[in-house]
Amino acid sequence: MIRILATMMLCLLPAGHVLAQPLVIAHRGASAYLPEHTLPAVAMAYAQGADYIEQDVVLTRDDVPIVLHDLYLETTTDVAERFPGRARDDGHYYAIDFSLAEIRTLRVGERRKNGEAAFPGRFPVDVNILRVPTLAEEIELIQGLNQSTGGDVGIYVELKQPGFHAAEGRSFPASVLQILYAYGYRGADDRVFLQCFDEATLRFLKDHTEIRLVQLIEDKALTAARAQQIAGYAQGAGPWIGFLTDQPEFVVAAQEAGLLVHPFTFRADALPRGVNSYRALLDRFIRNMQVDGVFTDNPDLTRRYVDSLSR
Ligand code: G3P
Ligand code: CA
Repeated sequence: MIRILATMMLCLLPAGHVLAQPLVIAHRGASAYLPEHTLPAVAMAYAQGADYIEQDVVLTRDDVPIVLHDLYLETTTDVAERFPGRARDDGHYYAIDFSLAEIRTLRVGERRKNGEAAFPGRFPVDVNILRVPTLAEEIELIQGLNQSTGGDVGIYVELKQPGFHAAEGRSFPASVLQILYAYGYRGADDRVFLQCFDEATLRFLKDHTEIRLVQLIEDKALTAARAQQIAGYAQGAGPWIGFLTDQPEFVVAAQEAGLLVHPFTFRADALPRGVNSYRALLDRFIRNMQVDGVFTDNPDLTRRYVDSLSR
């Protein structure tokens, strides 16, 4: 009740009165400006002031964790031209059917949907000059920048579709943990989160690592009971902003259960219906709901907003 009253009062306050500093989590890098999950997009996110940079991870045929959002390659690379005939019967070119050496030959461009730019107005969709990074390479870039700039930017790794990887006979969580441990990410105090939509995978991870875990949620069940349940195996919850808009009380329930709340995805060029500016979107979730961090394609705008609150 106290939190609810406090939240209502904060709605009435002018900018500059919010107490906490929410995390700016660069969603697939600075993906509003450069093709997602490429090293330039990571460097840009870093320079724009992200606190954490997100990596979606899948495995190659030779079990190397690479940074790629989809299980398949054709939505962001030229795989269909370079490897004709290598699609499965469903028409998709699965990363897990390609060796790292083969994936290194691919060129990455802006995400396509039905052959067209998924986000018109972003980086030109016909410019394919970038590459698919491994998780290790992306970590080396972030850690290198931490050293050269004196920064402390963290990583925020998502295991994509563990059920698919298990069906392919892979030890997906183990392959990812091996890389994280090799680069010094081991404990709850390290600048790392592991996120997943799959509860069973998070419960498995809870028993095998001290790294903080985040339950991603894309269903409507945002209840206090769900928050309590998640708190039994994870340190955070990542709900989709669409459902959280309708159930803002979940933020208080989750925080009272001890969870961080990091909703996704905040995009200046794809605002939810009824929201007329990116600032209004951030006001709703950061100033009013007081979430603990946001996944954003626009780290620059979000950094500026968050910094303005603490002035
Ligand atoms: O991981 C948070 C958010 O990225 C989940 O959605 O599909 O963009 O990975 P997706
Ligand atoms: Ca993700």
